[in-house]
Amino acid sequence: MSASEIVQDPAFNQWFVLAMSSDLRPHQARGYELLNTRVVLWRGTTEVRAWHDQCPHRGAALSLGKVHNEALSCPYHGWAFEGNGRCSRYPAHPDRQPPPRAHARTFQCIEQDGCLWVSLGKPSHAPPRFMEIDQAEYRSTLVGEWNIKANAYRVMENFLDMAHFNFVHPTTLGAGADSSIAAYQVEAYEHGFIARDCRVVQLRGNLSADAPAQVLYDYEVLGLTVAALHKKTDNCSQASDVIRLLVVPVDAHNSVIRMLVSYDYAGIDGIDDLAVIAFNRSILLEDVPILESQRPKELPLYTAVELSQPSDSSAIEYRRYLKRLGIKFGTC
Ligand code: FES
Ligand SMILES: [Fe+2]
Repeated sequence: MSASEIVQDPAFNQWFVLAMSSDLRPHQARGYELLNTRVVLWRGTTEVRAWHDQCPHRGAALSLGKVHNEALSCPYHGWAFEGNGRCSRYPAHPDRQPPPRAHARTFQCIEQDGCLWVSLGKPSHAPPRFMEIDQAEYRSTLVGEWNIKANAYRVMENFLDMAHFNFVHPTTLGAGADSSIAAYQVEAYEHGFIARDCRVVQLRGNLSADAPAQVLYDYEVLGLTVAALHKKTDNCSQASDVIRLLVVPVDAHNSVIRMLVSYDYAGIDGIDDLAVIAFNRSILLEDVPILESQRPKELPLYTAVELSQPSDSSAIEYRRYLKRLGIKFGTC
């Protein structure tokens, strides 16, 4: 794809969790990459802004600059940009008023539920809410972040996939002898879809499970690279997880993975955030070599390229969803 085709791609109108609120202290700037675009996130006293990480003067990375109150100054010649992106001062010419054209390229940024949501284009709707974050019965912790040499949509499909449990996660999410996957329901809605009543037997579905059990999953795709897994384990009637997968498509071949795990079994058998992080991390690390091995790197949207089986219903719906959105970036 040419640079102009990339910018017109509907992926640019999507919301992505580019970073977590806790990644940025007041008066801090950091550089990120999203959809082949360098982005600086910076926090003034409280508010976070997302801008192109490229100074309009000579292209230096603004993320190397300094934040003073609600302004960011470039590290190279010190141009000072106000919170709205407008340059207010050329230090080399203090008497000159910078013209309106001297303006950082600004993107939309929303901070909610501990996440920094960024869209590089014009999103048609607000980012989804993560209600469990504020609910007293859940404790939430971040698992990640990992840089992975894999396409973000391949990572999404792996999260939705149950038929790999027995092969890639044989001691936890696998079931032992039985690799069969029962039929489940997939229902599309305006900004995503949900796969309901996904049932698998798992040796250890989550940390609170002390015996093999039937686990009930609902998978929800909430955005192009945002999904949620609602998970209940039968043998521990109260225990449940909501695992949110937040993937940053750095470019078509590289991603950053984060998981936000909300769980209601804190304290049971001494389970705490560190144990939850270690458990989910070990599972994700089993997926990494598979994800990095997949070819083509881009996600094929047409069935002739790859074969599907009934247990791939979620992935098939995910590909339909990308087609519906008209996504070209990262697909083939
Ligand atoms: S490159 Fe930013 S002020 Fe010159
Ligand atoms: Fe997996």
